[in-house]
Amino acid sequence: MSRLLEINHCRKSFDGSEVLTDLSLCVESSQVLSIIGPSGSGKSTLLRCATLLETMDGGDLIYDGTYAARDMGGRAVYAPPAQLQKVRGMFGLVFQNFNLFPHYTVLKNIMEAPMLVQKRSRKEVEAEARALLDQMGLADKADAYPFQLSGGQQQRVSIARALAMNPKILFFDEPTSALDPELTGEILRVIRALAERKMTMVIVTHEMAFARDVSDWVVFMNGGVIIEQGPPAEVIDHPGQERTIQFLRRMREQ
Ligand SMILES: Nc1ncnc2c1ncn2[C@@H]1O[C@H](COP(=O)(O)OP(=O)(O)O)[C@@H](O)[C@H]1O
Ligand SMILES: [Mg+2]
Repeated sequence: MSRLLEINHCRKSFDGSEVLTDLSLCVESSQVLSIIGPSGSGKSTLLRCATLLETMDGGDLIYDGTYAARDMGGRAVYAPPAQLQKVRGMFGLVFQNFNLFPHYTVLKNIMEAPMLVQKRSRKEVEAEARALLDQMGLADKADAYPFQLSGGQQQRVSIARALAMNPKILFFDEPTSALDPELTGEILRVIRALAERKMTMVIVTHEMAFARDVSDWVVFMNGGVIIEQGPPAEVIDHPGQERTIQFLRRMREQ
């Protein structure tokens, strides 16, 4: 088992207020790590720092042994652009709101980045994109536009789009939060199937039953710090910290 992602002592402030405080975590290959916690606790900021959409103020960010950022005297110093580009090729990100290109067909949404960024041939990329659509149960939607699809279908396209880049690790930021409850299940099933195929994933979710089933490791965040982390049988079933207990109780009452 190899360590695909390591974040050490991550710090991040916005306008002088600290949103992430000395936060460290590791993701091993084939592991599913879920991040749970109340709204505003810094989960999205952590994912955005991990995926280079935000810069950390301090800390290390290491993908499969390659440094994206290294802490030097309390400051995160980022690697040169070529190295960051290499790191960007290692992960994919699925957003809450799908973020598909509205004026592109489903197929083109999936093919765009592998062709432009990875410079792979159209023929190869199209074959792979169609196989991914098939895997997502969307083989007949290749020529549709996003507005013609349900939210659940759009989210499956955005998962296919992320997978088309062959990431080593896939991040999800509340992938079902924008969906009606009856569409949530189809996305959770897709993520479960990826977990069965040993895809390494980091998932921010409010679906506690899902997090308990699918995760190898659960991180509970509150106020920009990790309050506790461990296997789901500990953190979700037998939390040791008062704040975790309260959070889980609130989630059950919803
Ligand atoms: N770009 C930003 N500018 C200023 N404050 C931000 C920004 N992004 C997030 N925050 C603040 O950081 C805190 C954590 O937000 P976020 O990471 O979105 O939490 P979560 O995803 O757990 O709900 C919140 O107080 C939020 O208002
Ligand atoms: Mg968020």
